[in-house]
Amino acid sequence: MTTAIYPGSFDPITHGHTGIIISGLRCFDRVIVAVLNNEQKKPLFSVEERIEMIGEALPEIGADMSRVELDSFDGLLVDYAKRRGAGVILRGLRAVADFEYELQMANMNRHLNEEVETVFIMANDAYFYVASNLVKEVTRLGGDVSSLVPPSVDRRLRAKLGV
Ligand code: PNS
Repeated sequence: MTTAIYPGSFDPITHGHTGIIISGLRCFDRVIVAVLNNEQKKPLFSVEERIEMIGEALPEIGADMSRVELDSFDGLLVDYAKRRGAGVILRGLRAVADFEYELQMANMNRHLNEEVETVFIMANDAYFYVASNLVKEVTRLGGDVSSLVPPSVDRRLRAKLGV
């Protein structure tokens, strides 16, 4: 049985992320969506809120929740993967701009533990431009992101940002 970790900040989860999770479930037996617990990144949503939003969003889009686990982690990702018995780190790629950062992380993670493979899945082209930071900024400025994020995320974003 192959378990993949899908790590990220998910602040908040977008349809870019949900697409990667659905694709990941086609490739792997189990996907652990692992929310980075890092206050230094000054997240808008707490880890608990981010996990709740992921938990609400995935059933809405028909993800097979019997093969999905939601968790949080801190410290090194490869150590977390080892603890969880996962041999794969799953990451999504959008445009070329993602590539350099992702290559750097994948190689660093391989340096730290060569038994953990990083596997990339291309984001759906409909969501190539979608990023959590942009979604937050656009909502804050009164723009409509309702087609780019799950409904519960849209609601919570507007409540959190008071718009
Ligand atoms: O959604 P993000 O912010 O692009 O995800 C980045 C993440 C969580 C994958 C990355 O910051 C990470 O793995 N952090 C854990 C610390 C770690 O292992 N750092 C060394 C990897 S290069």
